[in-house]
Amino acid sequence: MNLSVQLAPKNKHGLLLANPVMTASGTFGYGTEYSHIFDIQKLGAIVCKGTTLEPRDGNPQPRLAETSCGLLNSIGLQNIGVKALIKEKTPIWASWRVPVIVNIAGETIDDYARLASQLDGVAGISGLEVNISCPNIKAGGAEFGANPDSAAEVTAAVRKATSLPVLVKLTPNTSDIAKVALAVAKAGADAISLINTLKGMVIDITQRRPLLGNITGGLSGPAVKPVALYMVYEVAGTVDIPIIGCGGITTASDALEFIMAGASAIQVGSASFTNPHAPLDVLEGIEQFMEKEGIKDIAELIGAARI
Ligand SMILES: Cc1cc2nc3c(=O)[nH]c(=O)nc-3n(C[C@H](O)[C@H](O)[C@H](O)COP(=O)(O)O)c2cc1C
Repeated sequence: MNLSVQLAPKNKHGLLLANPVMTASGTFGYGTEYSHIFDIQKLGAIVCKGTTLEPRDGNPQPRLAETSCGLLNSIGLQNIGVKALIKEKTPIWASWRVPVIVNIAGETIDDYARLASQLDGVAGISGLEVNISCPNIKAGGAEFGANPDSAAEVTAAVRKATSLPVLVKLTPNTSDIAKVALAVAKAGADAISLINTLKGMVIDITQRRPLLGNITGGLSGPAVKPVALYMVYEVAGTVDIPIIGCGGITTASDALEFIMAGASAIQVGSASFTNPHAPLDVLEGIEQFMEKEGIKDIAELIGAARI
């Protein structure tokens, strides 16, 4: 069986994954945290926590709340910063077989460009995922992704600053995701990942106050899956670059739905918090499905449900 997928066919380096199962940024640390739990080298790719120019402490606590079939988070991009990432994490990744993609976030377009140029050519990094979709920071993030023009500006700036494959991660918090996707594709993205979290909130009725320290947070988990699936279907019908589907994927069946909607690869996010083996379980389930259905190449399934 061939499960390999190419996520950056037009890029000189390419981004060839042995299989379509990736981890979602912010839910799998730097990969190292999970490497003693299962053989993470079996995955298609690992996407690390959102990285900024300077280290960040993130938002005030509490930053997590469970909701019906979902998780609300307002972490606020707590991370070690790009310098420490290059010094401490990339030498480890360089020895891995599994490609690692660095998720980057900034407050200005220049921040994104500087991050991209600092990460360009660093051994151990196979691509960048440009987070223009974080709902939990005061400046930048989802503001860029909500509008086709600013989304395109960030993409073009990153494209200019690096030869690495560039994945742009979209927010569902926009009125027309297809327009944003088209703008990003035209601006030079190699692939599009979607979705990031949906903005939401929880009220603590005893305190009569919002529960999260940041007041609002981003909703993820099974609750968002139908929204994410619809958006992947919509975007896959709009652009001609690979799509990476994300949002509520917990089982192989979930992953196959996204692939059949048109995603070339998928990311497992919040599911790793309840089942740390979830990405591997999803991969093994896809393999079993292909075997049972007599599918020789994953390409036969990509977009198979499109009408
Ligand atoms: C605790 C937490 C932290 C996250 N951090 C990031 C991040 O740093 N960068 C990013 O692009 N997305 C981040 N996300 C969004 C996920 O990568 C993913 O897009 C979203 O959770 C939907 O997928 P899921 O329903 O499978 O979790 C985060 C999500 C969670 C739950």
